Amino acid sequence: MSRADQTLAEELAAQAAAGRSRRRRTVEARAAGGVRVTVAGRECLAFCSNDYLGLADHPRVVAAFCEAARRWGVGSGASHLVSGHDAEHHALEEELARFVARPRALLFSTGYMANLAVASVLAGRGDHVLEDRLNHASLLDAGLACGARFSRYAHGDVAALRSKLAAIGAAARTLVLTDGVFSMDGDIAPLQEIAAACRELPATLLVDDAHGFGVLGATGAGAVEEAGLGLDAVPVLMCTLGKAVGTFGAFVAGSPMLIESLLQRARTYIYTTALPPAVAAATRESLRVMRDEPWRRGRVLEHAARFRAGLAELGLRPLPSRTPIQPLLIGAEAAAVVASHALFEQGFWVPAIRPPTVPVGTSRLRFTFSASHTEAEVEQLLAALRTLRDSGVIQPTAAA
Ligand SMILES: Cc1ncc(COP(=O)(O)O)c(C=O)c1O
Repeated sequence: MSRADQTLAEELAAQAAAGRSRRRRTVEARAAGGVRVTVAGRECLAFCSNDYLGLADHPRVVAAFCEAARRWGVGSGASHLVSGHDAEHHALEEELARFVARPRALLFSTGYMANLAVASVLAGRGDHVLEDRLNHASLLDAGLACGARFSRYAHGDVAALRSKLAAIGAAARTLVLTDGVFSMDGDIAPLQEIAAACRELPATLLVDDAHGFGVLGATGAGAVEEAGLGLDAVPVLMCTLGKAVGTFGAFVAGSPMLIESLLQRARTYIYTTALPPAVAAATRESLRVMRDEPWRRGRVLEHAARFRAGLAELGLRPLPSRTPIQPLLIGAEAAAVVASHALFEQGFWVPAIRPPTVPVGTSRLRFTFSASHTEAEVEQLLAALRTLRDSGVIQPTAAA
């Protein structure tokens, strides 16, 4: 074994000893809007996808993808600034900007890259970045990588944010980054209060609405729409397309000056291949389905609400979330893994989320719901949880 491999083996062994090894399951087939999946030859019900509206296999979205692939080919062939920016991308950017009521939008290949782009263009050496402690890893990495002074405030604590902003002072350039819907907790950031703090103190606010876009708000434009916040209050809005939209990629929406600066300067925009035009075409159709089938938003939120009520009937308390992300706190890493395996044995796929994704001692089962689930399937899940509670695999007292 090489010296490098020897060190890697020791590090992997330490990770395993801490109960933090990660394992992939290979999905052999998906059906029924992605909620019935086959793993190791067995069909199970998945409560773990972020395809909240069940659009990833919607016939209209699939048809748009296939038709565009026939017309445009599969790959875009180059970055946007070389020759990879096709008419489908361009039209999608205009439609996304309209969807979130912002002047302009810019497509990125992933949300991770979009967040890195924004932080690198809006903050640097000598500037300040403030983040919610429970922000998604991509936001935390973006804040750390941009070279600004980096600090985190307690989760959802606007008073803590205000005091950090006041200490920094108005002379400095400060960027505040927050999830709209927190990815591992499902709760919604106090966006109106955060926006007010950033207006007064002052700072530029980026909201990452990866999990709110498509689900929340009167038209599905997300947590920012639900909070009634326009461009002045949230000058930088980042949303992903690989979750409720059911396709792939991400976009940043904001002022023409912001978008032009990202296009000119963001390395994660400039130095990477544009996403396939067929993905852009499928996303355009997905946006139309979101408009045509608003019942999908209502249905996924109803499933989440029924699940919460069902957990309460079982004496289990979920974290405070009204979104499709419904975590059940378990505590210890090993116990969360045992609970996840026990559910899998009963035909339900619900991942155990452990550190470093969540803080130590807060390992959890993360249930996510889809408009493709039926009410009966939600009841089946609750029945399985009842057996886990009765057999002591899940302790009512261990739940937060
Ligand atoms: C809050 C949040 N932001 C950003 C991302 C990254 O988006 P993408 O998967 O498109 O890279 C995710 C999840 O993947 C997320 O949950």
